[in-house]
Amino acid sequence: MALLPLRLFLGITFVYAGVQKLSDPGFLHPGAPTYIGTQLHGFAHGTPGGFILRAFALPDPKLAGIGVAIVEIAVGLLVTLGLLTRAAAAVGLGLNLILFLTNSWHAYPYFLGSDIVFVFAWLPLVLAGAEGQPALDNGLERLARSPRMRMAPSGPALSRREVITRSAGAVGAASLLIAGVAAAAKGSYRGTRALAAGTGTRKRAAALAAPHAQHASSHVPAGAVRLGPSKALPAGQGATYNDPSDGQPDIAVRLPDGKLKAYSAVCTHAGCTVGFSGGVIACPCHGATYDPNTGSVTGGPAPQGLAPKRLVESDGQIYAVPT
Ligand code: FES
Repeated sequence: MALLPLRLFLGITFVYAGVQKLSDPGFLHPGAPTYIGTQLHGFAHGTPGGFILRAFALPDPKLAGIGVAIVEIAVGLLVTLGLLTRAAAAVGLGLNLILFLTNSWHAYPYFLGSDIVFVFAWLPLVLAGAEGQPALDNGLERLARSPRMRMAPSGPALSRREVITRSAGAVGAASLLIAGVAAAAKGSYRGTRALAAGTGTRKRAAALAAPHAQHASSHVPAGAVRLGPSKALPAGQGATYNDPSDGQPDIAVRLPDGKLKAYSAVCTHAGCTVGFSGGVIACPCHGATYDPNTGSVTGGPAPQGLAPKRLVESDGQIYAVPT
């Protein structure tokens, strides 16, 4: 019984984690800070579990994200109900182990990454299941003492295996239903967008800069790359673009007072791409946050602030200046 609170916590948390992913408008939206593809790219390189993501998740990040969310909901429901508890806990442990070897690998000190804690939280349930707790597993165990069981006085007799199969099927159907409701309830994505013309590597930047040079305005430095119209970035919004010098992602933010700021969008913790939402520059991978006024760290594991980048506005257009 001492494991019951842990079991309920893990079960409810996994259902919540799956629902939270599917109800996030940015989760399946390329360019959003919480886009699953961005997260997977950040996790897949420089981590011991990265090869798993490169083999199974990166080829289709959206499918992988949806799959993981549905598995989380199913594991959460099974563990909460105490049905197939040890098997479900083993799947939960495996999922958190992969996340520890990818998502949390760069967390320092290691205990600040939650996945390693979840791995050890799952372990007692993998070893002991829901024995001695209120759980469907135990009800089925009692029924199993008779070789056949009758579900209703007039109904057909069912074996224990049949009851488990039907119950697991019902949990699977409930998981899909919950996943569908969560996906349907999500609003449309409004957050960090990509500035249209910011697609350059150094070569591309040179190509984009050339036409501008012919209509040079005295306010725009030579070599600057036009990103798009100023009105595309209203106050309180952010947008990503590719740095004209090296092709790496940068982020432009329009502050509430109208000032334009730009920083490298590469998180200084482990290299995920940051986004701008709710007035904060945030990293989707491990939760680092940065001040949009200065680029300095305001929370999370990032060791230093974001490198500043230079933008200029002229004649209603935004230009990125190579650094
Ligand atoms: S990569 Fe870890 S917080 Fe950004």
